[in-house]
Amino acid sequence: SGQATFVVVANRLPVDLERLPDGTTKWKRSPGGLVTALEPILRRNKGAWVGWAGVADADLEPVVEDGLELYPVPLSGAEIRDYYEGFSNATLWPLYHDVIVKPEYNRDWWNAYVEVNRRFAEATSKAAAHGATVWIQDYQLQLVPKMLRMLRPDLTIGFFLHIPFPPVELFMQMPWRTEIVEGLLGADLIGFHLPGGAQNFLFLARRLAGQPTSRGTVGVRSKLGVVQVGFRTVRVGAFPISIDSGELDERSRSKSIRDRARQIRKELGNPQHIMLGVDRLDYTKGIDVRLAALHELLDEHRVDPANTVLVQLATPSRERVDSYVQMRDDIERKVSRINGEYSEVGRPVVHYIHRPIPREELIAFFVAADVMLVTPLRDGMNLVAKEYVACRSDLGGALLLSEFTGAAAELRQAFLCNPHDLDGVKDAMEQALNQPHESGRRHMRALRRQVLAHDVDRWAKAFLDALSHSGAAGPALI
Ligand code: G6P
Repeated sequence: SGQATFVVVANRLPVDLERLPDGTTKWKRSPGGLVTALEPILRRNKGAWVGWAGVADADLEPVVEDGLELYPVPLSGAEIRDYYEGFSNATLWPLYHDVIVKPEYNRDWWNAYVEVNRRFAEATSKAAAHGATVWIQDYQLQLVPKMLRMLRPDLTIGFFLHIPFPPVELFMQMPWRTEIVEGLLGADLIGFHLPGGAQNFLFLARRLAGQPTSRGTVGVRSKLGVVQVGFRTVRVGAFPISIDSGELDERSRSKSIRDRARQIRKELGNPQHIMLGVDRLDYTKGIDVRLAALHELLDEHRVDPANTVLVQLATPSRERVDSYVQMRDDIERKVSRINGEYSEVGRPVVHYIHRPIPREELIAFFVAADVMLVTPLRDGMNLVAKEYVACRSDLGGALLLSEFTGAAAELRQAFLCNPHDLDGVKDAMEQALNQPHESGRRHMRALRRQVLAHDVDRWAKAFLDALSHSGAAGPALI
């Protein structure tokens, strides 16, 4: 066994290895909310992180990078295709997000998933000290809890799913449903964002893993469900993830950010209304929905193209998966249509960026935006909604939020909408654009109270506390 008493295991390391044209390499921050959420906890606990470096065939030794102890797990080109792009992102991702696109069930992909999960379990076993606490993350690694327990019965093992856990009727499509449920049940504690996801899982555990003693109604945090697996007790609960709200609040107040936000407004031609979307370019995010809503509002003269802009910042994601290629075409065509019909030269209605955006610049956009558009068809949590709120210490701005995000369970004072109901989205968008100053401030104050009180530390602490009371108690974590 290794040295680390606390180990985070995730498909991706918090940094990606970038190969530069001159043959050298450098590390850069990975995309997505998972990394943003976990990095501070790992730093505080001086833990190790086991994950993939984001490129093919990089057989790297463990390294310390920017104060983080990293244990890279190599993936071959074929494994990236079958395990990552295939089973993780063309089978599990769409199945768990309400089959927005049709999941593909491919046996070769499944075999690669099993194989790669085994490699992660082995790498974790090497990194973890005797009696360590291991925290496995997300849908790419659902078999690791059981595999790791077989290798290392001394460990305390937690698992957290960062995406929705689907209703039983959908999950039952999965040809390898029993293996997945049994894989997860290798953990001492299994966490979901919402009580509904935890409840879905409990029901399945009962049905598929032959555990008739499962019991409990699951509520947020302390109310845990229980599954008995032989002599072991597995706990199941809801732990809504969050952000480092205090840090973001502080950074957004800085003079440089304020200045940059003002400059952004100027660069956009001083419009009366700036609407903003910030997403990985993913079909779950409902970027098409907000574009369709805007287009119809323009057609109906309910939005004036002379004083309204939409800035859509889209981070490239999973660019070799078919459904992502198609969705990108669709989005870009929709952007062009709107601009073709409503822009003036030098004054586009939709500003669309398909590149990663530096963090500082992103914060300035949050501060500048009058209406934040978060319209996913399904989203486990959506941290962007919380980031926007954390950045609005001025109590300005409005949040348009899909009911189909985990965040909607907490951010009740947002303008909530059903993304499948286009008229409803249009009405909510129009209301958000025209909200009276005073009620806007009142809503934002209430949203901020929620987000600032429930930060990522509280999330991690709630999960790790519950974990330390499960299984063989490992060392206390902070
Ligand atoms: C979501 C998932 C993460 C994933 C991230 C970025 O947040 O829950 O597990 O890392 O998207 O996606 P990618 O496929 O680039 O890792």
